[in-house]
Amino acid sequence: MPLKPLLLSALFALPASAAEPVLEARAKGAVVAKGSAAELSARVATSRVVVPNPFLGGRSKPYEAFPAAALLDALYGKDWRDAPSGEVAFLAADGYAARVATAKLLEGGAWLAFRDLDKAPAWEPVGEKNADPSPFFLIWEKARTPEAGYAWPWQVVAVETTRFEDAYPHLAPAGAKAGSPELRGYSLFRAHCVKCHGLDQEGGKVGPDLNAPRNVTEYRPKDQLKAFIKRASSFRYTQMPDHDSLSDKDLEDLWRYLKLKAAQRQKPW
Ligand code: HEC
Repeated sequence: MPLKPLLLSALFALPASAAEPVLEARAKGAVVAKGSAAELSARVATSRVVVPNPFLGGRSKPYEAFPAAALLDALYGKDWRDAPSGEVAFLAADGYAARVATAKLLEGGAWLAFRDLDKAPAWEPVGEKNADPSPFFLIWEKARTPEAGYAWPWQVVAVETTRFEDAYPHLAPAGAKAGSPELRGYSLFRAHCVKCHGLDQEGGKVGPDLNAPRNVTEYRPKDQLKAFIKRASSFRYTQMPDHDSLSDKDLEDLWRYLKLKAAQRQKPW
């Protein structure tokens, strides 16, 4: 009987899986998801990846790793892909933050390594200061080196992104039903337009605001507006790109979304 508390405390003292390092996914400063490499690999398939490591003089080395984009999908849902900042921060234990463009992460050569396959369970140190890259190390295939503009943060303990709806809380079509043209138009707007255009000054600033002070559906005839969005270059020499891939239904839904937003202005401009 007196043995029991001893045994228990011995159990609690054991590091085992409790001490396994965890990757945190943060948004707006809060932790929205987290998991150890083992937990995450139950959700995202890992691969053995051999990359020339610029922090080992370019020597090729095998790691076990998560495809970065699929891992971020699992942590955040697909929203991170159109994060308005266009960046994901990889945060190291010492507070260092490497900001990596979303577009680069979507190119397909980015991996978050969690095991050194030459030295496991240890890690071969990297860089001039012989740093231990664990627990997570962002590595890249295909000559994507720091000199080429690709960051290789090590000792990563967290990732952070800004979710679209956190950064642009007023762009959603309030009251639109699931499957409605307005909601579909909103997702097309997010995918194709918001990087350049805002509504009520929320969104991109490359092109004009489409809702303030007046909504574009109020002063452009519908057919002309749809034709312009599809092929602006047939109207004028402009920075506005053509959107030949948008179907008639897409253009109609975009119009419906913009039209609805006219009735949902944030303030009388
Ligand atoms: C790469 C940046 C960019 C993207 C992406 C873009 N636009 Fe534009 N857009 C512009 C710029 C710059 C202008 C202003 C120049 C012009 O009107 O020719 C413009 C003009 C417009 C206008 C004309 C407004 C007016 O009253 O004349 C409309 C409407 C418009 N864009 C809608 C859209 C929609 C809808 C999308 C998404 C399908 C989109 N744009 C995507 C840059 C962009």
